[in-house]
Amino acid sequence: MHIRPATPADAGRLAALRHDFRTAMNQATEEREGFITRCTAWMAERLQPGGPWRCWVAEQDRMVVGQLWLELIEKVPNPAPELEQHAYITNVYVDPSARAAGTGQRLLDAALGFCREQRVDSVILWPTERSRTLYARNGFASPADMLEAVLDAGRDIH
Ligand SMILES: CC(C)(COP(=O)(O)OP(=O)(O)OC[C@H]1O[C@@H](n2cnc3c(N)ncnc32)[C@H](O)[C@@H]1OP(=O)(O)O)[C@@H](O)C(=O)NCCC(=O)NCCS
Repeated sequence: MHIRPATPADAGRLAALRHDFRTAMNQATEEREGFITRCTAWMAERLQPGGPWRCWVAEQDRMVVGQLWLELIEKVPNPAPELEQHAYITNVYVDPSARAAGTGQRLLDAALGFCREQRVDSVILWPTERSRTLYARNGFASPADMLEAVLDAGRDIH
């Protein structure tokens, strides 16, 4: 398994994996082809250099089988010695055929290594129930000092 940064050329495959991920969890209300076209365009734009998004992919026999997305979140500049960005990890997915072989961990290693290099303060994510053990092993815990307001109880997209 090879882990590498994604490029805009990966967007179509990554959009198809995104569709697999979300439709395994929830019934789609958008037709597959239309979703993949829309998501491919969204991803291709965000995979251009210079923006806040990063993505790492896992490739096996030249086929992308996993992805992890990260968005850098700016903080307001600090005059004191405090770090100036957070990171949000999302869309962590490995195709079922490639699971339980350490690929999710390697994607997370790439993302957390990047965060350390970039001097990120905190990394946030919303886990699925089954993935909590993976994140707990990597230092993720429920914060005691953070507040979340859920504005739409129908939301299901992370
Ligand atoms: C979560 C996921 C990316 C991990 O990839 P992986 O290559 O299987 O992970 P690793 O082999 O490095 O680590 C195994 C850990 O993955 C998690 N995991 C394994 N199967 C899983 C599944 N079907 N769903 C969710 N998490 C799973 C568990 O935390 C597991 O650790 P444990 O066996 O000690 O409990 C992958 O299982 C997946 O795509 N799951 C479905 C999507 C999902 O839940 N994504 C997380 C969203 S935040």
